Amino acid sequence: MAKILVTGGLGFIGSHTVVELQNEGFEVVIIDNLSNSSEDVLDRITSITGIKPLFEKLDLKEKSKVQSFFEKHSDIQGVIHFAASKAVGESVENPLLYYENNINTLVYVLQEMQQLETANFIFSSSCTVYGQADVMPITEDAPVKKAESPYGNTKQIGEEIIQDVCNINSDFNGIALRYFNPIGAHEGAKIGELPIGVPQNLVPFITQTAIGLREQLSVFGDDYPTHDGTCIRDYIHVVDLAKAHVVALQRLLVKKNTSNYETFNIGTGKGSSVLDVIKSFQKVSGQKLNYKIADRRAGDVIEAYANTEKANNILGWKSQSSLDDALASAWKWEQNIRKNS
Ligand code: WQD
Repeated sequence: MAKILVTGGLGFIGSHTVVELQNEGFEVVIIDNLSNSSEDVLDRITSITGIKPLFEKLDLKEKSKVQSFFEKHSDIQGVIHFAASKAVGESVENPLLYYENNINTLVYVLQEMQQLETANFIFSSSCTVYGQADVMPITEDAPVKKAESPYGNTKQIGEEIIQDVCNINSDFNGIALRYFNPIGAHEGAKIGELPIGVPQNLVPFITQTAIGLREQLSVFGDDYPTHDGTCIRDYIHVVDLAKAHVVALQRLLVKKNTSNYETFNIGTGKGSSVLDVIKSFQKVSGQKLNYKIADRRAGDVIEAYANTEKANNILGWKSQSSLDDALASAWKWEQNIRKNS
């Protein structure tokens, strides 16, 4: 079966994608610099699938290391590129760290892929590229707006770089998957989201509050023009998101793609407000959540949820899990990691 490189493969979405690739029989090699992940995830993946992925601890910012990696693994038939920094707030404080870590690394990987016999590339993009879209649900041809953060800008620039490569190299095939909000964890609760320090994202903050690690959740604003005043997002189970990467890769491997650069929105198609998420979490966990309404957070868009017709009808992928399912899996994961800590 084809050998696939997963960069950032020990991270949250990367590790779930490695599991789904192995479930489909792919041989996986992971590159990770362990800046936002730990090597024990390798054993956790192995305990789920029974297959230990190849792993090379390597920082993609080191161009010579990237070159020797591709010389050694010239039989790679696909690359799924997750490796990047992804904290919106941090990117505002330290933009150059984000341009170096998210753009330089992408360029080095793409440069080495030009020498591969078959170059199939799946890029981890984000609905952030749309900013505050004018029309809901958001389609792939919604205008890409000026990014609200350097992080979002690196996703926009990344997509443009890949398109430029596809324009000059018809043997290079790229798909950008624009994620909405990934949440939850694999059913076995052996892998999941492991935010370092205080969680920036809603769901890990909820589960850490429920388990007693955090005192209280702050809901960032309840005066938005939505049904209950809180922001709306499209929360997708991380396993559904992982499966979308496998389907996208298979599309390229069997040459079903209709052009050598395609983009797909990967979401559930359903919008949920912050208060909807809290209600759902309390229902599935049986925990009363301690929260308060606080000021708005700078940079938040009012609402963002996906039009999933293109992913459903062209890519042939559809999310399976509900918000309740995803939150129940997040809670099970939180309980499991705390039990073992
Ligand atoms: C969701 C909602 C907050 C925390 C970001 C990135 C996106 C992706 C996912 C990387 C918002 C509210 C949050 C809290 C809250 N990142 N909230 N209290 O901002 O939609 O997306 O993370 O791939 O690219 O942009 O996700 O989970 O931070 O926030 O009220 O303590 O929850 O205001 O409305 P976001 P989020």
